[in-house]
Amino acid sequence: MNLQGRATQFLVAGVVFAGIGVTLRYWDALQAQPSLKKLPTSVKPTPKNDSAASPKLVTGKGDPVLVGAGDIAKCDATEDTLTAQILEEIPGTIFTMGDNVYQRGTAEEFQKCYDPAWGSLKARTFPSPGNHDYYTPNAAPYYAYFGTKAGPAGKGYYSYDLGQWHIVSLNSNIDAYKGSEQERWLRADLAAHPKTCTLAYWHHPVFSSGVHGNDPKMKDIWQTLSDMKADVVVNGHDHHYERFAPQTAEGKADQKGLRQFVVGTGGAELRDRMTPKPNSEVRNAQTFGVIKFTLRPKTYDWEFVPIKGQTFKDKGTGNCTT
Ligand SMILES: [Fe+2]
Repeated sequence: MNLQGRATQFLVAGVVFAGIGVTLRYWDALQAQPSLKKLPTSVKPTPKNDSAASPKLVTGKGDPVLVGAGDIAKCDATEDTLTAQILEEIPGTIFTMGDNVYQRGTAEEFQKCYDPAWGSLKARTFPSPGNHDYYTPNAAPYYAYFGTKAGPAGKGYYSYDLGQWHIVSLNSNIDAYKGSEQERWLRADLAAHPKTCTLAYWHHPVFSSGVHGNDPKMKDIWQTLSDMKADVVVNGHDHHYERFAPQTAEGKADQKGLRQFVVGTGGAELRDRMTPKPNSEVRNAQTFGVIKFTLRPKTYDWEFVPIKGQTFKDKGTGNCTT
């Protein structure tokens, strides 16, 4: 082979190797994609009592992550943008614990206050409504803004699966007593999804050391969750972070009970007046941030992640009851 032929051979080999390199990097990049970023298109609210139509999760590498907070967006605050910045760096499904926007949950507030803060995360956000969302009749702008991601309009309760976990978003602004439509839906939904691990979230906490304190309106729901061996409850409404030990609906410590978190730290002003309640393990009302759950097949890790410039953290691991 003459010199020109050999040069051509090297050139061809170089192009092939470069091509393989690009292909591998592209493949690596694909593999490195946060798997749960695919969730918004693969997880849809569960139609009422229709287990056959349950969403099919596209699982990827790693355990699913569920991350979020309640009491979020205010046009005159900047902390909501800072909590959004945390979320932008954490792949996974986002949940909200109500009071998504202040003061009255109007369409204008959703567009001008929520959307610039958490709006870019909407495609992977599964919300729950709070009392401020309901200050506009029937929380109509809330349902219009989140669309099908908020569950059936006017009901606002729905469920989905993340890996081996069943996740339930509930509505503490409507009837939730034993025998109510929502409570009966919950019992049927949990019976249809007998996962080892279940997490439920809504706005008004049954237990809180904060200004609003304990709110019994979801106590029957707590009992139903407990009857069906659920594991974790996450709420907002009081503007602080709090973690309780597992307990019963009556507030008795019980390792087989539900572990509840208050995470009203999404951006609205914090309130540090506290009266510690029994079984309260950790409280902090000086830090904005979000809670991140890593959902393993039989256990879960929780981690409170503060906004940039703040330092409080809380992390640990819990077991699912069986
Ligand atoms: Fe609230």
